[in-house]
Amino acid sequence: MEKQNAPIGVFDSGVGGLTVAREIMRQMPTEEIIYFGDTARVPYGSKSKETIINFSRQIAAFLQSKDVKAIVIACNTASAFALETLQSEIDIPVIGVVKPGAKTAAQTTKNNRIGIIATEGTISSNIYTKYLKQIAPKAQVFTKACPLFVPLVEEQWLYDSVTIEVADRYLSELRAYDIDTLVLGCTHYPLIRHTIQKVMGEKVHLVNPAYETTKELHQVLEEHQLLATRDVMDKINHRFYVSDGSDKFRMFANSILPCQVEEAKAVSVEQYAVSGKEERL
Ligand code: DGL
Repeated sequence: MEKQNAPIGVFDSGVGGLTVAREIMRQMPTEEIIYFGDTARVPYGSKSKETIINFSRQIAAFLQSKDVKAIVIACNTASAFALETLQSEIDIPVIGVVKPGAKTAAQTTKNNRIGIIATEGTISSNIYTKYLKQIAPKAQVFTKACPLFVPLVEEQWLYDSVTIEVADRYLSELRAYDIDTLVLGCTHYPLIRHTIQKVMGEKVHLVNPAYETTKELHQVLEEHQLLATRDVMDKINHRFYVSDGSDKFRMFANSILPCQVEEAKAVSVEQYAVSGKEERL
């Protein structure tokens, strides 16, 4: 296969990264995706940096065994903790979702008051605040970890009264800060966007980093002369892999993606383990 028509690897701890895969399918319909959801080890948000780097290395090695031409870390937590490591260890383009999300927030806010909601890991890494201070030094940033959102989304309780109650508890603090922009800093959160919008009020602009991430992906592939050369009418064969719960994942994927997911194969990525540079030598 020509290098340009090789697939793009996309990964997350579970179903959240499908919100990024969906955006890639929408903006770049000639690209093929290999998606990996680490459903056996979700959530990532409460785990240490070392653990997330270890998981991310295994997944990247698995995706590379499928000859992907680039990797999108469709997970804010893994982007916060493992992007630099993967970029330094892998010789294909690797992009994350945090910088694009921060960029969009900086372009969107009018009153320079930006909220970030994300996992405990992403919030404690301080990475959104760091990027925002670089791009928009005047911005005031208010952060809130919302750890219960991920299991609620994985359970598909997207429209449940429990989800509204949990959102209300987490977000009441942010409502008091008069923010006009709120970054959905976890790829699971766009799936409960309507609830978050309802709780925050219509005036707050919600930022889903998936849109800007896809634009960055396009630009990076173009720079590396790696954009797919196939025709939009050609058959595209997206493939899906998980570490557990294939059927549940497949059903969820079919409810949100524009393509039919016939199968989600279960794989054990530990066997692709690369635990550090030393072992590569
Ligand atoms: N969806 C991921 C993120 O963007 C991870 C959520 C989790 O597994 O805790 O951070």
